[in-house]
Amino acid sequence: MLHRFSFLEQMLLRFDVLPHPFVDAGASMGLTHALAASVRLGLVDHLSSEPQPLARLAQRAGLSEQGSELVLDCLDALGYVRQGPQGYAFTTRGTKFLAPDSPEGLRYFILFSDWIQRGYVEDLDRTIRAGRRTQGTMLDTLDERGWELFSRAMIEISRTNREEVVGLLTLPKGAKTVLDVGGSHGQYSISLCKKHPGLSARVLDLPPVRRYMDECVRREEAAAMVQFVEGDFDRGELPGGNDVVLAFNIIHGLDVEGNRRLFRKAHGALNPGGTLFVLDQIKGTGGSSQLSKATTSFMALNLLHQAGGRTYTAAEVDSFAREAGFKGSSMKKLRGPGFAVIACPRG
Ligand SMILES: C[S@@+](CC[C@H](N)C(=O)[O-])C[C@H]1O[C@@H](n2cnc3c(N)ncnc32)[C@H](O)[C@@H]1O
Repeated sequence: MLHRFSFLEQMLLRFDVLPHPFVDAGASMGLTHALAASVRLGLVDHLSSEPQPLARLAQRAGLSEQGSELVLDCLDALGYVRQGPQGYAFTTRGTKFLAPDSPEGLRYFILFSDWIQRGYVEDLDRTIRAGRRTQGTMLDTLDERGWELFSRAMIEISRTNREEVVGLLTLPKGAKTVLDVGGSHGQYSISLCKKHPGLSARVLDLPPVRRYMDECVRREEAAAMVQFVEGDFDRGELPGGNDVVLAFNIIHGLDVEGNRRLFRKAHGALNPGGTLFVLDQIKGTGGSSQLSKATTSFMALNLLHQAGGRTYTAAEVDSFAREAGFKGSSMKKLRGPGFAVIACPRG
């Protein structure tokens, strides 16, 4: 993200003297493609905090020097790489987000974002004209690699906030059982169960996701607490007997009717006194924050296009909850711009 402007640039941008479309449609798009290519083509695999000459980096990645130099210059402009007399090296930001072994890396997120952009523009026009996705959902188009990128991207995203999220959830007294609807990797459930001894979770998701949850459960030695349940939350009822139901990053993938059904099913799957927790990008949470508005707006368009969903306001979530029989809802904002957790007590 371009974020560091000189004082003069800030003034010229603020007063629309510098044409914003040059940045919005030119620099942003071009830099995005360069970032994706640097991961896709493995150039970042060979960078480290020690400077290396361009020729060595290009040769190790099996790329041309000319192409590598231009990509690295884009990464420099974005602040991931710095160029010095000895060559190119990761900055702190590059090491944190792009290094292969970084625990906070977002390489799969970048690859997945890049993957879903293929054919995006032409199809997007169709969606915008029709006001809805015209056929299927993004999930229907995923092959094995697509599922891997999707699932690993979700793992990376959950690492950025799982401890924060779990710290914000007030569980019903004596809660023992969790159903994590569309829980994918299960990382939120794992953190929740580790924080509350005696709690166990079932992660309900589609079959291709199972191997990624198994991997996370193995890595975190959580097999005694967290299990995978193969299922489709669109079909039939949800498994019952739960004190807690999680629907994290699920409601944005559903239209209004889909959410009404989901909330009804979640209500039916909860024990008396149980709570449904929703985590999502919640429209209107950010006040005057441009970053929150950007997040909830681009996600809404993206989700309409990918899945027939969008982002919802806290009031809309509250009405899904009340219509389904919940007592109401209360929201806590997360650090991520536009993100919030909403608790819906069953009563
Ligand atoms: C955006 S991801 C969110 C994953 C996880 N809850 C998180 O917040 O990181 C949505 C998940 O819902 C799953 N999913 C989508 N439709 C589903 C369905 N009909 N039944 C079960 N799982 C579904 C996807 O496979 C995916 O793992």
